[in-house]
Amino acid sequence: MIVAPKIRGFICTTAHPEGCAANVRSQIDYVKGRGPLPHSPKKVLVIGASTGYGLASRIVPAFGGGAATIGVFFEKPGIENKTASAGWYNSVAFEEAAAEAGLYAKSFNGDAFSKEIKEAVIRAIQADLGQVDCIVYSLASPRRTDPETGEVYKSVLKPIGQSYSQKNLNTDTAEVNSISIDPASDEEIAHTVKVMGGEDWELWLDALADAGALADGFTTVAYSYIGPDLTYPIYTNGTIGRAKEHLEESAARMNSRFGAGTAYVSVNKALVTQASSAIPVVPLYISLLYKVMKEAGLHEGCIEQIQRLFADHLASGGAPSLDEKGRVRIDDWEMRADIQAAVASAWETVTTENLSSDSDFSGYKKEFLRLFGFGLEGVDYEAETNPEKALPSGL
Ligand code: NAI
Repeated sequence: MIVAPKIRGFICTTAHPEGCAANVRSQIDYVKGRGPLPHSPKKVLVIGASTGYGLASRIVPAFGGGAATIGVFFEKPGIENKTASAGWYNSVAFEEAAAEAGLYAKSFNGDAFSKEIKEAVIRAIQADLGQVDCIVYSLASPRRTDPETGEVYKSVLKPIGQSYSQKNLNTDTAEVNSISIDPASDEEIAHTVKVMGGEDWELWLDALADAGALADGFTTVAYSYIGPDLTYPIYTNGTIGRAKEHLEESAARMNSRFGAGTAYVSVNKALVTQASSAIPVVPLYISLLYKVMKEAGLHEGCIEQIQRLFADHLASGGAPSLDEKGRVRIDDWEMRADIQAAVASAWETVTTENLSSDSDFSGYKKEFLRLFGFGLEGVDYEAETNPEKALPSGL
């Protein structure tokens, strides 16, 4: 079939196999170009490994550090006349490149919240690697089925306490309008914490510890976001922020249990991913941020961010540098006072009319399409392609 983008709101329902592969290869090339990471962990489990920050977190230790990797994700394989989801093609391309480079790579496509996937992953670790020395937790999910009770929890992106009105971008029509969101109920807050908090991260570590699958001196990291005052009501002080607070509490609990310096929360930069494009207000903020950071020569994507996370913190050969709350801050360039001042001032004046000149909305759109394998150089988008691509590890 010939594959073209089909955008529905903040999701693209098609993905291009060769385009996704080109995207993965360019990330691998970037990492190889940065030189080896001699202190990289060597046996890495990435939960949420197929797109965004998790995919980058698989590529960096593999191609910078020569690590064996196990990836867990929830993606759809392609069938005749229907493409797979982008994360499926990304993972196929990752595994192919890993095999070419002689690197161990196994993938598990299924629900990371379930006991079954945890057990299957642990069996593979025990059979193939013995133990893992780094666990990256990079899930972004709208729902979670509790493995004990079967109850389904749904996360919401809402403010807490009072409603929130702010400028917003309709990414379909390129209109700057405004949005007003009612506050979350107590139940919605609790559900969001259940889905996006640290409970499942801890369950993974419990299961790995019980199975003796954690190497001495292992580390684990999960990702968070803080961002500017203007998104505080919908992010940091909203339901998702509550979940991220819980993630930090989980890290503290794991540090008490496994030893200080085992569990980290890394605060990352706002970037276009499938997860972030669903958050109100954030696409407009990202469009303004990209323009300011590109002009300042400070722009990074997921791969540059995670390369820096490993090179400067997790695989530097020393302890990571932490903020006053014990977090790694690779959002440091985003949060620089000059960058934030420029974005805040652009925020005041941005309108539908000046969106294309005063923001990097065109960069936002290009990057959104790239997530699904569209707009990559060297890919023939007019050519027939087979949507069915098998994962080499066959799982
Ligand atoms: P993403 O949407 O690109 O990736 C999510 C990953 O989770 C995918 O691999 C997906 O297959 C997997 N996944 C979702 N549900 C699953 C399930 N039930 N079982 C197994 N795998 C599942 O998201 P992104 O943006 O990379 O987010 C990853 C983490 O980074 C999240 O915790 C997010 O809050 C955090 N973060 C994201 C930022 C951003 O701007 N995108 C900024 C800072 C932190």
